Amino acid sequence: MNKTTDTILYLDGVSVSFDGFRAINNLSLVLNKGEMRAIIGPNGAGKTTMMDIITGKTRPDMGEVYFDGTHDLTRYDEADIAVLGIGRKFQKPTVFESHTVEDNIALSLKGPRVVLSTLFNRRSAEEASRIDAILATIRLEERRNELAFNLSHGQKQWLEIGMLLAQDPKLLLVDEPVAGMTDAETEETVRLLKDIARHHSVIVVEHDMHFVRELGVKVTCLHEGSVLSEGSLDRVSEDPRVIEVYLGR
Ligand SMILES: Nc1ncnc2c1ncn2[C@@H]1O[C@H](COP(=O)(O)OP(=O)(O)OP(=O)(O)O)[C@@H](O)[C@H]1O
Ligand SMILES: [Mg+2]
Repeated sequence: MNKTTDTILYLDGVSVSFDGFRAINNLSLVLNKGEMRAIIGPNGAGKTTMMDIITGKTRPDMGEVYFDGTHDLTRYDEADIAVLGIGRKFQKPTVFESHTVEDNIALSLKGPRVVLSTLFNRRSAEEASRIDAILATIRLEERRNELAFNLSHGQKQWLEIGMLLAQDPKLLLVDEPVAGMTDAETEETVRLLKDIARHHSVIVVEHDMHFVRELGVKVTCLHEGSVLSEGSLDRVSEDPRVIEVYLGR
């Protein structure tokens, strides 16, 4: 494995402490280009903190963090890391409720743009087709003229994923996307993420094991800030250590 060619994300020996408590402890994790990975593990395992480190919100005390081979993420701040191509979705959706679904996407498009011309529909053909493609991916074509305020919780989550896609990231980090969704929305989110993963690398943190099973991707179980077990969900969920600290609860 060459961290400079094959990997979109490379963490090695990463640690971070808060007031003497090691939230991340010698964590190593490698994501290949184009891979989607599910991260599971008990509350406090360090899943969100790992995302904080990848996105530059938290600086590790030790260890290597490389993005797309060459970028040492420990040297960049949050804004730079977003520009490099890492998009992050937090648990709570933060859409512009008083704007339409379509305008939420338009306002998020990458590149220099003028907000007023965006809102007055002065879009290039290229922008319009980008918006259409994103609306199709996030299953909101039919609701494009609806105010975001009127969407269901699940649809707001999808819209926020669409706003991330508008930034054209290489790697998407998605923290507990299906929390609070209906079963039908959860099923659709599996398909939606699989569509996105055809052209992006993705890390999904989730506690919903049914959802993780449907994703059908390699799973990493974190515990006390390091990797406890890794492999197919079947293998990981048969691991006695995983049963003891997480699945057997
Ligand atoms: N900024 C911070 N300051 C102090 N402690 C923190 C900070 N961020 C995280 N922690 C601690 O680090 C540990 C890991 O937290 P983290 O939020 O990463 O867990 P998690 O795996 O995302 O859990 P959950 O499944 O509940 O979301 C917890 O004990 C948490 O209290
Ligand atoms: Mg968390």
